[in-house]
Amino acid sequence: MPSGPLTGRIRVPGDKSISHRSLMLGALAVGETRVTGLLEGEDVLATAAAMRAMGASIDREADGVWSIHGVGVGGLLQPQGALDMGNSGTSTRLLMGLIASHGISAGFTGDASLSKRPMGRVIEPLSQMGASFEASPGGTLPLLMRGCLPAVPIEYRLPVASAQVKSAVLLAGLNTPGVTTVIEPVPTRDHSERMLRGFGAELSVEERGGERIIKMRGEAELQPQTLEVPGDPSSAAFFIVAATLIEGSDLVIENVGLNPTRAGLIEVLRQMGANIEEQNTREVGGEPVADLRVRHAPLAGIEVDPAIAPSMIDEFPVLFVAAALAQGTTVTTGLEELRVKESDRISAMAAALALAGASVEETEDGLIIHGTGGEPLTGTAHDTKVVTHLDHRIAMSMAIAGLASRAGVAVDSTAPIATSFPTFSALLETARRD
Ligand code: S3P
Repeated sequence: MPSGPLTGRIRVPGDKSISHRSLMLGALAVGETRVTGLLEGEDVLATAAAMRAMGASIDREADGVWSIHGVGVGGLLQPQGALDMGNSGTSTRLLMGLIASHGISAGFTGDASLSKRPMGRVIEPLSQMGASFEASPGGTLPLLMRGCLPAVPIEYRLPVASAQVKSAVLLAGLNTPGVTTVIEPVPTRDHSERMLRGFGAELSVEERGGERIIKMRGEAELQPQTLEVPGDPSSAAFFIVAATLIEGSDLVIENVGLNPTRAGLIEVLRQMGANIEEQNTREVGGEPVADLRVRHAPLAGIEVDPAIAPSMIDEFPVLFVAAALAQGTTVTTGLEELRVKESDRISAMAAALALAGASVEETEDGLIIHGTGGEPLTGTAHDTKVVTHLDHRIAMSMAIAGLASRAGVAVDSTAPIATSFPTFSALLETARRD
């Protein structure tokens, strides 16, 4: 391999999903919530700005602790001016849920990527609860919404496996009289459920016939919390794959969140032959956490079980990179949801990997990748650049592909990386220097 191994010990920033929710729930609790390890990426800062615009006071102290003084459930104020969500689908969909049961209205705007993403999936249940919407064609941003007070509790079966849709309905349920029910045919990340309970909401989860039935009593009184955000497994993923691919690597990634609804990539990489050891397993902020020791290992292609997709939904771009270097063929199916992420991640990664010299076939719902068997990719030719479509995970995945290539990989822009992992390049340098 042309590039040096990854060694030493690193720590990735806080979990993005948990960071968004810490700010939102802290802003709805009366009193001071204190958060350590908050991800200070652009997406989370967009949530912070929106919660401030609706009355919460949110400050970063000199030691990096975030202090939030909330307004109480039902206490959100009318924001002056549109809420700019930047690139963040999670901010948009979860905040639409919060606003749906408050007697306020709000405009939402976002960047070119976010403005293409479907909001109909949250507009539908939130309309059933009484909120009203004026969206752009195709149910996209910019949109205007008006909340409903009091909102109507609903029972909603998720038509797509989406933690954002589940969370939007539950957050709307917070200020709704009675019990709001969400039925999940396929389990998705459960941070909202864990954290709503942690803040004192009355929430139960029952499993029946393979479905999860989540019930939450509304008009909740949330209690302020002291929270520690664990490291983001979706950020650790880039380093797990890099250390696996690059010969001689032996890297410890400390404090990685290993919630089972998020840990699918580790399982799939192990099935492919990766050497990932969990050390010092413990709980941080109500979530299972471990230090991961990752050593280089040759990978073999597999058929990835589509049932595991929700627990690694953000990790497919970097899994595709791992597959491109594996021995044999990797087949992925059932990944239609990837087409409505920050970019169409199936076609964006097919194009990106092909440009870097990998052998890839795009199907309707996945990729078929014929790996090199460990031989480096060629890398991008002079004058060609991977198109990242304002998608942070395409940029970071292809940076890792670049490490495993002869000529390196050029991307059109690294700016989107700041949405979720502003310290990515610096941390990669640290790991390669140690
Ligand atoms: C998230 C849910 C997932 C994921 C996103 C974060 C969340 O989106 O892709 O990065 O924090 O709830 P979907 O709900 O669209 O699957």
